[in-house]
Amino acid sequence: MMNNLQLSRTGAASLSPSPIVEINGQLKYKSDCMTPEYFARSPFTIELYGDRVRVDHFVPILPDANSAIQYSDRLVELGAAIAEGPGEWPNEFCPEDEPFPDDLAMYFISFVLPAGGILVLLAPHAPHDRLDRDRRASGDNAVPHIAIQVNDMHSAAQHWRQKGFIPLSAQPQDDGCLCQWFLRNWAGQVIELIRRQPGGQDTFSCQNIRGLRLSEVEQ
Ligand SMILES: [Fe+2]
Repeated sequence: MMNNLQLSRTGAASLSPSPIVEINGQLKYKSDCMTPEYFARSPFTIELYGDRVRVDHFVPILPDANSAIQYSDRLVELGAAIAEGPGEWPNEFCPEDEPFPDDLAMYFISFVLPAGGILVLLAPHAPHDRLDRDRRASGDNAVPHIAIQVNDMHSAAQHWRQKGFIPLSAQPQDDGCLCQWFLRNWAGQVIELIRRQPGGQDTFSCQNIRGLRLSEVEQ
């Protein structure tokens, strides 16, 4: 996408800086990239663990729901469109399902950004819930997971295995529209491999979430 590209002095197109850095296997958002202004224009093709990947969705965590609402309002001012939520995930999104463990619930909003990428905003749904504890342990700039678009789920998983990532469930979650698989590396960093139907904007489905969220937090 042209708005992700910058022209160097020689006139050659190069990628804008990634909002993410890797530190000993863990991913962190750069502090100056944790803003609505940055994400509204962020590149989605970035370098990650030595690969050039296409990010499906970035997932920053905010301290609480009020912070997420303010952040959301600013993103909308900048041209983002709310795609999913806001609400308490997953029980307000999939109310017909068996209730989810309350400790694992989250405040959730997703956006389609002006350039077409997806941003998922998370916040603890209650003080000291699992996400709050994880955020306090990992810091304000934690990357709970990053979703990478893939075409062939099993060959992509094999590729990431060779980089030290281990799948968190025996098989990907696949509802026919979204196919998703979480993997974790030696440093505890989780990535999500995602294959979606063209044009889809969902970042979860009620069929997939239980297995995904449970595998993401499994120790
Ligand atoms: Fe995700």
